[in-house]
Amino acid sequence: MRIIEAENYQTVSEAAASIIIDKVKTTPQLTLGLATGGTPVGTYEWLVKDHQKYDTSYEHVSTYNLDEYVGIHPSDQQSYHHYMDKYLFNHINIKRSHIHIPDGTAMDVQAEASRYEGLIHSINGVDLQLLGIGGNGHIGFNEPGTSFTKETHIATLARSTREANARFFSSMEKVPKQAITMGIQTILKSKEILLLASGEQKAGALLGLIRGDISEDCPVSVLRNHDHVTVIADHAALSLI
Ligand code: GLP
Repeated sequence: MRIIEAENYQTVSEAAASIIIDKVKTTPQLTLGLATGGTPVGTYEWLVKDHQKYDTSYEHVSTYNLDEYVGIHPSDQQSYHHYMDKYLFNHINIKRSHIHIPDGTAMDVQAEASRYEGLIHSINGVDLQLLGIGGNGHIGFNEPGTSFTKETHIATLARSTREANARFFSSMEKVPKQAITMGIQTILKSKEILLLASGEQKAGALLGLIRGDISEDCPVSVLRNHDHVTVIADHAALSLI
């Protein structure tokens, strides 16, 4: 595991964007796993700036998002579909048919989870997976206690996760209780993983990743079993190391 210590959120974002841009330029038909939450916003802003300035092309890139809330329509402002359009897809030349995000409003969400897993399986895992991290060590929506053998599935969100994500909703009651998420197994199929962390609220989770036992109690710790992981974190997130 390679750990890059950055000064602050801006430099974490810039370093992450430069790794992604390099892959976009050098890997024909790159498959990119994407994350949501507050952390990757700065990275997406750098990608957009780069695209506008240097015309880096996403024409042959395909994307696969980690997760989506159950019951939230793609057109809803709180959906991860909307988030991705707002921060990235509306500003780059990606083909709509190359964008993949689970459908949280599918009639049969279990079948939707299986369909999505099948998509990732068919490409043999993404080339590069971008990850954030929950304060409790979750990745995607794989909460503490989730089996490392899970593939894409319906997850029940921990109360602390719903509280952390309540800032994106008008009230805590509006935060969905479930999500469709790539499982740990799905994430581990990625050929390369890029995990970003910023702020002291992520310090405990990073301690678990870097120094803790590899345990389902701290989902992110499983990344130590993967042989191509880069962590980019700022001083505050690494303050317990
Ligand atoms: C959500 C997402 C995760 C993300 C986490 C941290 O729960 N499902 O993919 O990593 O939040 O979010 P933030 O970056 O806002 O701290």
